[in-house]
Amino acid sequence: MSCLATLVWCFSLFSLLNSDSCFALSNETDRLALLAIKSQLQDPLGVTSSWNNSINLCQWTGVTCGHRHQRVTELDLRNQSIGGFVSPYVGNLSFLRVINLANNDFYGEIPNEAGRLFRLETLFLTNNSFSSADICPGSNPGSNPETG
Ligand SMILES: *[C@@H]1O[C@H](CO)[C@@H](O)[C@H](O)[C@H]1NC(C)=O
Ligand SMILES: *[C@@H]1O[C@H](CO)[C@@H](O)[C@H](O)[C@H]1NC(C)=O
Ligand SMILES: *[C@@H]1O[C@H](CO)[C@@H](O)[C@H](O)[C@H]1NC(C)=O
Ligand SMILES: *[C@@H]1O[C@H](CO)[C@@H](O)[C@H](O)[C@H]1NC(C)=O
Ligand SMILES: *[C@@H]1O[C@H](CO)[C@@H](O)[C@H](O)[C@H]1NC(C)=O
Repeated sequence: MSCLATLVWCFSLFSLLNSDSCFALSNETDRLALLAIKSQLQDPLGVTSSWNNSINLCQWTGVTCGHRHQRVTELDLRNQSIGGFVSPYVGNLSFLRVINLANNDFYGEIPNEAGRLFRLETLFLTNNSFSSADICPGSNPGSNPETG
């Protein structure tokens, strides 16, 4: 095979894998993560009632997906009277760029798993009851548990 033909073949294989199995698996991870998050919330206004299996997760209230990959890029639950704590499953939403939980009754700590969200750019947590723990795991220059 010529170099070009090999390249084309590789690319086709990649597209095939990408569009079927891998792709479907990954938005399933997002779906499971959001359902796990929902299961830890008190939601008196029923904001997350649309987070159900009859509609695509990209249409769930407060959820925004990227156009290209149909993966969750934004979670906006501000001003919704939501209580509860943030499930560690949030760390599985690997395409997440924006989290806005402002003006709710969230409590507890932001789970360490959120530190895996390397695309995260914006995190609004104001006006909740979060405990003032380490909001950005690993970002505290004053303490290094590996020293010594
Ligand atoms: C799922 O969400 C949609 C949109 O909010 C709603 O119309 C439908 O009743 C919900 N289905 C269930 C089973 O809760
Ligand atoms: C996951 O993505 C596939 C391919 O775009 C789509 O057909 C499927 O409905 C999506 N699954 C969910 C739960 O949104
Ligand atoms: C959310 O609530 C705050 C405080 O009550 C208010 O200032 C803000 O305008 C609200 N934002 C939206 C998008 O509803
Ligand atoms: C997602 O996160 C949870 C808790 O952090 C973990 O138990 C689970 O195995 C992860 N992976 C998937 C694919 O859901
Ligand atoms: C804080 O959130 C509550 C709703 O949970 C809202 O009524 C209040 O106005 C907010 N306070 C500020 C300073 O935004």
